[in-house]
Amino acid sequence: MPASIKIAPSILSADFTRLGDDIRALEAARADWIHIDVMDGRFVPNITMGPLIVAAVKRITTLPLDVHLMIVQPDAHIVAFADAGADRITVHLEADTNLHRTISAIREAGCSAGVAVNPHTPAIALEAILPYVDMVTVMTVNPGFGGQALIAGMWEKVRALRRMTDVLGVHIDIQVDGGINADNAQMAVNAGANVLVAGSSVFKHPDGIAGGVEALRDALI
Ligand code: DX5
Ligand code: ZN
Repeated sequence: MPASIKIAPSILSADFTRLGDDIRALEAARADWIHIDVMDGRFVPNITMGPLIVAAVKRITTLPLDVHLMIVQPDAHIVAFADAGADRITVHLEADTNLHRTISAIREAGCSAGVAVNPHTPAIALEAILPYVDMVTVMTVNPGFGGQALIAGMWEKVRALRRMTDVLGVHIDIQVDGGINADNAQMAVNAGANVLVAGSSVFKHPDGIAGGVEALRDALI
């Protein structure tokens, strides 16, 4: 697996009665980042976790915490998540009317800044913000729940974004999030993604968390 590819397991599918054990298993499996899905019941139908969980995870790991905010008005919560220990904060383009200001706030708080787009948002909507972010996230499912099937039409969006970053000469991560497993991981990388978020394919793998991370890694040439 090339070194520039990062595997970011999403703890949305972890066992929350033993979250510490699952985090330690991710470390042992040499996951690259820990992806934390924050949902508010407004931007998406589901409600999950907040800064309290980010702070708890931070206490037991040195892995970078990749916090994905699926919340309305994310600008109001940047400092809380940065203070809780987020290393990277991603907000949704569809949830923010002053995206450039929010991106600046994320960086001022000392974090890497990302922008995510839902499946219906075209790549071109990201063009003006690309020079200001560290990462873009292409949602390969409609956000809200783990365990959904990937929407194959999203590969073309990843390809379009990689072409745009090449033309602009900006070096940013392209993350794919939702329905990623060992059968499609290489397709994501071929399209131009270099950060793979995976929830159920890691945590529900028959060989456990280590088996799930290893299966993704083995699927990549
Ligand atoms: C979807 C979340 C994803 C998702 C990943 O709303 O942002 O991170 O839970 O889980 P799987 O890999 O199960 O789709
Ligand atoms: Zn996510």
